[in-house]
Amino acid sequence: MNKILPSILNIDNLNKFLDILDKINEESNKKITEIHVDIMDGIFVENKCGNLEDICILKSRNYLSDVHLMVENPKDNIDKAINFGADSITIHYEIKEFENCFKYLLELKNTQNIKVGISICPETDITCLEPFMEQIDRVLIMSVHPGKGGQTFIEESYTKLEALREKYKSIKIIVDGGVNDNNINNIIEKGADSVVVGSYITKNIEYAERKIKILNSLI
Ligand code: DX5
Ligand code: ZN
Repeated sequence: MNKILPSILNIDNLNKFLDILDKINEESNKKITEIHVDIMDGIFVENKCGNLEDICILKSRNYLSDVHLMVENPKDNIDKAINFGADSITIHYEIKEFENCFKYLLELKNTQNIKVGISICPETDITCLEPFMEQIDRVLIMSVHPGKGGQTFIEESYTKLEALREKYKSIKIIVDGGVNDNNINNIIEKGADSVVVGSYITKNIEYAERKIKILNSLI
């Protein structure tokens, strides 16, 4: 089971980072096979960053890409992500055109080999997901306010996670934001299948290997 999804939001040299992951994967039976690609538009969230072309690099290095679109109008990004070979695409429930964009994404899912996810912000209740649960592959629970890495994990996320897991036994739940060696175990125990980890492992690339090994030892 692929439990840790590194976020490459703050990675300057993706190939160098993937070299580190390759090495860890060779030595460990807890493989990291999927990478979280954050895209921000400066509208839905304040920052504008992320690069969909990273999907091509990930693909060439045999890593799956989990694309998290923190964008108000995701259709163009969805098209691009699919062209680059994304494996999973997640959009936000809070965007104005959510139902439209979700329908668009589902239509593409019929012809493309992609997984579809919905992400909810910390202040969004899980009941909003109900009408869509049968059609999606994963839920991304934001445990920080979307928009930047390096924030503190919001403790209320545990309640949301537990409630969602209680209601839906088999949906893939991913928790995103503020995950570190202090909380990873608790998050997995409360029902998450996977966690996105950014700054804890990428803040200082020299320590990335050691940090990932610490996390692997805790799950
Ligand atoms: C936040 C992003 C997260 C972020 C995670 O807007 O969606 O994926 O990169 O980074 P950390 O682990 O630093 O919170
Ligand atoms: Zn993310």
